[in-house]
Amino acid sequence: MTSRRCRNRVLAVVRAMVARGLVVGTTGNVSMRARDRVYITPTRLDYDAMTRRDVVAVELAGRPMRSRHGPSSELPLHLALYDRRPDVGGIVHTHSRAAVTWSMIASGLPPMTEDARYYRMGAVPVVPQTTPCAEPAALIAALGDGRAILLEGHGVVAVGEGPYEALWIACAVEHMAAVALSLRALRDGGGHCARRPAIVGTWCGLP
Ligand code: 13P
Repeated sequence: MTSRRCRNRVLAVVRAMVARGLVVGTTGNVSMRARDRVYITPTRLDYDAMTRRDVVAVELAGRPMRSRHGPSSELPLHLALYDRRPDVGGIVHTHSRAAVTWSMIASGLPPMTEDARYYRMGAVPVVPQTTPCAEPAALIAALGDGRAILLEGHGVVAVGEGPYEALWIACAVEHMAAVALSLRALRDGGGHCARRPAIVGTWCGLP
């Protein structure tokens, strides 16, 4: 794939991520791997103003190529993930609301809805806030061969064959977290889940 097409693809995924309300302001980032390069969003740049030329190309070894902007501050995490996971071709990091909320009240997000089966996802672990993305070893260990992790009080890191698949995984995490929060609210409101009490009880502590 040409450099131009890679940049266009990253930009298209950025637009889709923003359209779905998965980030706050200039937070979040997107990257894709193509041969010996990674194409990643620049740091702190207004998404509405971002063009293909703003996407930063970096050698997989980590050396930035000539670019208008500095790469995302999460570049070390993206590079480490590509290094450890040859199957990963795209990474999306979001700050979506339900996922962040769930990360602050639970130690993991169970694969409780059909979306988890559809996207072949297991449980999504929550990584404690004390673990900085600049030191990614613990995050990578938590991800294992999975498809997403939740950073406590921070957001979602999702991986896929390419950046579009990573985005769909991030959407699925947000959806599952929203469902989990609804179930918690049902429980706290004294509601009873009649249809799947055992499963829901295991996952969310519902009666
Ligand atoms: P960047 O703007 O540097 O990509 O950082 C955004 C972010 O989400 C940090 O967690």
